[in-house]
Amino acid sequence: MTLLQVDQLTKSFSGLRAVSDVDVTVTDGEFLGIIGPNGAGKTTLFSLLAGQLPPTSGRVVFDGQDITGWPADKVAGAGLVRTFQLMRPFESMSVLENVAVAAHHRHRSRRAARRHALEVIERVRLAEYVHAPSGSLPTAGLKRLELARALALEPRLLLLDEVLAGLVPAERAPIIELLREIHADGVTVMFVEHIMAAVMALSERLLVMAEGQELALGDPQEVIRDPRVVEAYLGEDYA
Ligand SMILES: Nc1ncnc2c1ncn2[C@@H]1O[C@H](COP(=O)(O)OP(=O)(O)OP(=O)(O)O)[C@@H](O)[C@H]1O
Ligand SMILES: [Mg+2]
Repeated sequence: MTLLQVDQLTKSFSGLRAVSDVDVTVTDGEFLGIIGPNGAGKTTLFSLLAGQLPPTSGRVVFDGQDITGWPADKVAGAGLVRTFQLMRPFESMSVLENVAVAAHHRHRSRRAARRHALEVIERVRLAEYVHAPSGSLPTAGLKRLELARALALEPRLLLLDEVLAGLVPAERAPIIELLREIHADGVTVMFVEHIMAAVMALSERLLVMAEGQELALGDPQEVIRDPRVVEAYLGEDYA
């Protein structure tokens, strides 16, 4: 079943087409990797899908509903949730408070929101920091908090923007494992990442963007051998 259908999606910033006529269909339950050079439009695509930016033209259909131009709150309410490349938790608030704010969108009572937040915090293995101010977390902890805030919104489709950036290799493996678990629990994932080992380990299909457009889309092993992808992004050494 199709969960997300994107038709001819375009975003122009005073003449620059950051996202240009993108068509992509995401099946319920899949894990779609997205790669491409800096400035390719990956984050902008997420902002268009999740409602942080209105598209210049094109259409986004999620779970059978045309959500084009919906504000972020309403999109998240429908089950499409993104994380941010630049994380921005409320630093003076504790981990629990930060996640509870997100959980409140799904649970009206404070108690229920708190209980749900605690479950999510356990799930991302942040329990030892539950009462710590978010600003005191190390980078890997901030990444887990960013995941927890997204999960507290109970996404059906989760857009992950460089959740591994800034982590040393030893810190990446447990986060990759966590992403696998989240996906195994039935969450559909779109995963923007520059760490190719993680992209190849997780992606069932791979979309390559360059200059706002789709450069290639398909089986990850085939896509990374595509000469245009090697030229635009991966380089001869990787191939
Ligand atoms: N709010 C904005 N106003 C003007 N230009 C923007 C804005 N946001 C992004 N851009 C431009 O749009 C293009 C795409 O940017 P975007 O952040 O989507 O790329 P990206 O693929 O996520 O890159 P990276 O891998 O570096 O995160 C870039 O040229 C960027 O400078
Ligand atoms: Mg980006």
